[in-house]
Order: sequence, then C-alpha cells, then structure tokens
Amino acid sequence: MKLWTGRFSKEIDQKTNDFNSSISFDSRMAQEDIEGSIAHATMLGQCGILDPAEAEKICQELGRIREDLQSGALEIDPQAEDIHTFMEGELTRRIGVSGKRLHTARSRNDQVALDIRLYLRKECDALCGQLRELLGVLCRKAIAHKGDVMPGYTHLQRAQPITFGHHLLAYAEMFLRDVGRIQDAKARMDELPLGAGALAGTTYPLDRELTARLLGFARVTQNSLDSVADRDFCVELASAISLCMVHLSRFSEEIILWCSWEFQFVELDDAFSTGSSIMPQKKNPDIAELVRGKSGRVFGDLMTLLTMLKGLPLAYNKDMQEDKEAIFDAVDTLKMCLTAFIPMVDTLRAKPEAMRRAAAKGFINATDCADYLVGKGLAFRDAYKIIGSLVAKCIAEEKTLETLSLDEYRAVCDAFDEGVYDAISLERCVKGRKVLGAPAPENVQAQAERILARLEKGE
Ligand code: ARG
Repeated sequence: MKLWTGRFSKEIDQKTNDFNSSISFDSRMAQEDIEGSIAHATMLGQCGILDPAEAEKICQELGRIREDLQSGALEIDPQAEDIHTFMEGELTRRIGVSGKRLHTARSRNDQVALDIRLYLRKECDALCGQLRELLGVLCRKAIAHKGDVMPGYTHLQRAQPITFGHHLLAYAEMFLRDVGRIQDAKARMDELPLGAGALAGTTYPLDRELTARLLGFARVTQNSLDSVADRDFCVELASAISLCMVHLSRFSEEIILWCSWEFQFVELDDAFSTGSSIMPQKKNPDIAELVRGKSGRVFGDLMTLLTMLKGLPLAYNKDMQEDKEAIFDAVDTLKMCLTAFIPMVDTLRAKPEAMRRAAAKGFINATDCADYLVGKGLAFRDAYKIIGSLVAKCIAEEKTLETLSLDEYRAVCDAFDEGVYDAISLERCVKGRKVLGAPAPENVQAQAERILARLEKGE
C-alpha cells in the first residue's frame, strides 16, 4: 500500500520502489515506531483530537502488532516503502478506518525523526554498558599489574619506565571520555520532535509535553523546521563512536605489536586468536587487526552523515533517509568490536618477565640518572649532558647504566657515589614517580579503584 494514493494515477515503477524504499534497513525501528505511535494516539485521545475510545482501540491494536512481530506471527512486508507505511497499513488492515486516523497531526518527517531518536537513545545505553564492562576489565587488570615494569615509549623508542597497569589505565581514561561523549550525545538527542508535522507544525491543539512525558523525553524541540531537518544527533553519536574506534584501534595496534615475537609482552588466549592455513607456528591477532580495520568504515559513516547534510535546504529532504544505514552501521560496528574485544583483553596473558627484560635495555632510566645528579646539586641541563655521554659510552662498549662501575661513573663526574645504583633501579624509578597521574603503583591502584567505584555507581 502506498500512503500517497489520490494524486497518482499509477503504481510506482518496481525498480524505483526498490530504490526509494527504506524498509530493508528501517524495519529495525519497528518497536520504536509502535512506541511512538502509541504515545501519539494516547495524546490525541487525551486532547480530544481523537475520540478517546478510538484512541484506545488504536493503542491496543498497536500493542498486538508489537506482540505479533515479536512472536513471528506477523512479518514485515519487504515491499513496503518504509516501516512507518507498513505499520499504518497493517493497523488499517486490522481495524479499518480507525487505523486511518492514527496519522492525524503527524507526518512521516516528524515520525522518523522521533523513531531514530528513540532507537539511538537505547543504543547509547547499550554502548555505554559495554564500555563500562571494558573499563571494569581494564581496571582489574591494571591493579593486578600495577607493579610490573615495562618500557614506556615515545616515537616507539624506549623512553622511561612505566608499568603495564599504568599503560592499561591510559586506555581506561580514553574509554571513560568515550562514555562521557556518548552520554552527552544522548542528553542532547533527548528531545521530542513529534508535533513538528511535515515541517510547519499543525493547527491541531497537540499537547507535545504530554507526548514527551509518555516517551520519557527530557524536553520538546522548539522549532518545527529544525525538528524535522536536524540530524546533528546522528553526527554527534557517529563522531563519539568514531573516536571510540580510534581508541580501540590504537589499543589493537599495541596488542598486535605486543603479541609479536619482537615484543612478546602478552599472549592472547587461543579462543581469541587464529592460526594460519599454511604456517603451523602462527598464532595471529586477527581480532585486534579486524577492530583496527573496522575503524575505517566507521569514519566513513561519519563522513557519509556530514556530507549528506551539508547542502540540504530546510526542512526534510529524502537525502536524509541515508542517515540510518550510516548511523546504524557505526553503532553495530562498535558493538560488534566491543563484543569481541572485551573478552580478548580479559583473557590476554601479560608476560611481565618479557616486559622487564625489555625495560632493562634501552636506557629508560637515563632521565632518572640525570635526576640523581640534580639531587647532588647539578643543574639539570649539565646532568643531562653527562648522562648522555655515559649512554654513548655504554652503547660503544655494550654496557648498561647498571653495569658501569663506580669508577667509570666518577670518571665523568665526581658527584656520583654508590647511591646511583639504587637511584636507577627500575622498580625504584617507577615507585618514585608518585606525582599525580604518574605510574607509581599506589597511584595506579587508587585510580583503578576510583574508576571501579564510579562504575559501581553506574556513572
Ligand atoms: N523513509 C523516510 C526516511 O527515512 C521516512 C520519511 C519520509 N518522508 C517523506 N516525506 N518522504 O527518511
């Protein structure tokens, strides 16, 4: 059934219908469409725009349609133009003229704007739930590895000593911000657009506040044109999701490196890695690679949304139908990535011995050695130069700062004494980094506990 019969003398061309139709991807909003229609009909009844008994009848039948869809007794017609058309057609097939009254004071333009918001509001909660789960895993692992020294890197060169726990909590901070951004996006989309009609509102005396309350919206939108033309909330969510994918992708990249023979900092559980069809020795980090790879399609979704919107005159244009596949794909992809990523990280086995071995090479305590001389009264820049010359000597003679003799130290600066060996011990270097936010084990423990407490409170 087409909604726009009357003006037209023939059916739409079949291939054009396929092109025009959105049912293949908007049918996932069936529940939200029904929810919105029930609220709309209830409001129409309460405002006396529809006979209350008839409004009640519409609501009851919509409830039955919902049940029939859930049980599988009713299937969505793939030939329908979109989910809104299908629902109205089905309702009318079931209750006749009453079904035809549901669309009073409504357009598909405000209806679809409503459905997407309802749908995405739920998805925001689901995504935050998954991210909280990931945060819990990271915090527990960070506490377990708060004392395991590893090299921290800049330019992928060994730089200064940190712990594996501290490194994991860096990602926890990113995912906390992601939760915050998704919550912000949700808070801004928490407005009822219904009542905007096609673009110019309606002359019926609607109670939009009532519909908003029925659907649990914080507010109603304030401009009918904007209500039906706005997809900022899709862009915002896609952007928050994109950034989250950036974080997952960076984390994946590190996991991939850490799994390599060159690093051997971690080993993935067999259940979250794959083998090779030809090379019997291989254990590949496919999951992490796929997460890294899938970030690209999500950025594409964001670009699709931005480009789709940028030239559109107000208010609704059919271009906007393209919003759904993009934002759904972004949401689905992040969900899917997290579903695989969380247990992969949870079961990943850290190898502290290998981390410690790597930390012992690469002069990552050189800064601490310079700081030791500063403690003896030297200016940092002078101390820096002295240690630089010692590092050059070590490289030439295949030694480390730990294996230099005190005589060798004192040959370049007589401020050195026995205390230098303690000052450059990696454990001490890490423990001494107590400044707020630094990797000292008690800092890692405290921060992980703070995050876990926030998760406990459902923040
Ligand atoms: N399927 C359409 C969409 O997703 C619903 C709105 C249609 N409105 C219209 N005036 N053709 O955007």
